[in-house]
Amino acid sequence: MATEERPYAEEARAVVAASRALLEELLEEGVESLPAPAAALETAAAATPAAAAAELPPALTLEAVRQELGDCQRCRLCEGRKSIVFGDGDPRADLMFVGEGPGEVEDRQGLPFVGPAGELLTRMIERGLGVQRSDVYICNIVKCRPPRNRTPLPDEVATCRAFLDGQIEAIAPKAIVALGKPAASLLLGRDIAITRVRGTWHDYRGVPVMPTFHPAYILRQYTPENRRLVWEDLKAALERSRS
Ligand code: URA
Repeated sequence: MATEERPYAEEARAVVAASRALLEELLEEGVESLPAPAAALETAAAATPAAAAAELPPALTLEAVRQELGDCQRCRLCEGRKSIVFGDGDPRADLMFVGEGPGEVEDRQGLPFVGPAGELLTRMIERGLGVQRSDVYICNIVKCRPPRNRTPLPDEVATCRAFLDGQIEAIAPKAIVALGKPAASLLLGRDIAITRVRGTWHDYRGVPVMPTFHPAYILRQYTPENRRLVWEDLKAALERSRS
């Protein structure tokens, strides 16, 4: 019995030693706390450079990314979708919007942000910013509608991530607006509170990112204060995309 247990004891000692070395390294780097396990898992998935599910070629066009996506069956979201909602707009846009995932209308039409939240987003872009929707690029962190519009799960986001990365690389926007918590959490690489981070600049692969409220949230909480905050965020993003 004792001899059978020894290999596990040695393995356990090795794991403890490796964990201690890692913690010492983190302490040296000034890291004083670590996220809770669930958040850590999510962040780890978010930090994976290109989801194992897809490897994209180094020099990318938007069409090449779409082609690689193909008739995607990489995660369970393919089971309930009517269409893959890849993205919409100018492939050379300076300003890009990233939302959460297609809703019912988007799934039916194959285009992002064309339902009620999309109508508000389009109004904010066209009437608010004075820019044609066709001059920006709009997409989501997952390309297929989650059942009953639930939030996409970490593994679904991780699987689809290579395609968002490909879109960002191909378009090379000067600024990205992250719409709502799931998009902002993915691009910031951690589980964020949107009320805390909105209105502040971040970086994703060298591209400035402005998180703001999701238009669906604004529709639910249609207060002058929320509209003012989103308006400020969008104005700042437009300015940055023009600088
Ligand atoms: N909400 C999103 O996040 N994306 C869409 O495309 C539509 C609604």
